[in-house]
Amino acid sequence: MSYMDKWNAMWNKTDDPGFHRPEIVPQITHMGSRLLPADKSAAIFIPLCGKTPEIKYFNDLGYTVIGLEGNEKAIQLLSEEQNLHLTESQVAGFGKVFTNGDKSVQIYSGDLFQFSKGHLVTDVEIGAVIDKGSLVAVDPNMKTKYFEVMKEFVQSPNCRYMMFLIEHDMKSRPGPPHNVSFQYVAEELGKFGFQLLASEKANNFEGFAESEMNMLQETKDATFFIECVYLFGKN
Ligand SMILES: C[S@@+](CC[C@H](N)C(=O)[O-])C[C@H]1O[C@@H](n2cnc3c(N)ncnc32)[C@H](O)[C@@H]1O
Repeated sequence: MSYMDKWNAMWNKTDDPGFHRPEIVPQITHMGSRLLPADKSAAIFIPLCGKTPEIKYFNDLGYTVIGLEGNEKAIQLLSEEQNLHLTESQVAGFGKVFTNGDKSVQIYSGDLFQFSKGHLVTDVEIGAVIDKGSLVAVDPNMKTKYFEVMKEFVQSPNCRYMMFLIEHDMKSRPGPPHNVSFQYVAEELGKFGFQLLASEKANNFEGFAESEMNMLQETKDATFFIECVYLFGKN
């Protein structure tokens, strides 16, 4: 079973997976002005977006939001729950995209590892990437490939990169979310010219959705589960 098969099996089972948080996470509002592109014509890219409410939040602030999600049901749920009225069209060489009327929300449906900037249906510069449960959700053997894909999306000198990582010691279930070290991420993003601008560390087990805590309780063996959020920028 491939990694994406596992995610599809999970979406088949439920409309509300454990990782999904229906509220905007506080770290995003805390880092607000440092995170958001000053230029409103810049887009915000959310790889592996699920049905996260930040898509509508950023769009309501006036940004074009580009999402990428491998499970189509998640995109349908996003459209319904956030009243986005997304309609599907084909993307040559990739698959499908679900967009709203003015294409200020574009959710690409397919595998991240097949995706490139050339597939975007409008010509936009990416002003911020929000990785919330994305890198930690992929097969650990694909981490290098993840950064290869992201490389062409982060060319702008003003681009921000927000990375959510989780430190944990789940033994019966090593991930996802996988432990990915800050050092690894800082080194990979450093190759694109990023430096750490800000960070925020929650308290142990703090800030997770009830469904996420239920999932953790099932494993019974995590003594710590800590969310760390890092904001990178090039200037
Ligand atoms: C942990 S969830 C994070 C969702 C979202 N970022 C959030 O904050 O709620 C990971 C998501 O990535 C999707 N996914 C996993 N691997 C993928 C891949 N290779 N390409 C596209 N989507 C993928 C899964 O279907 C799942 O919805």
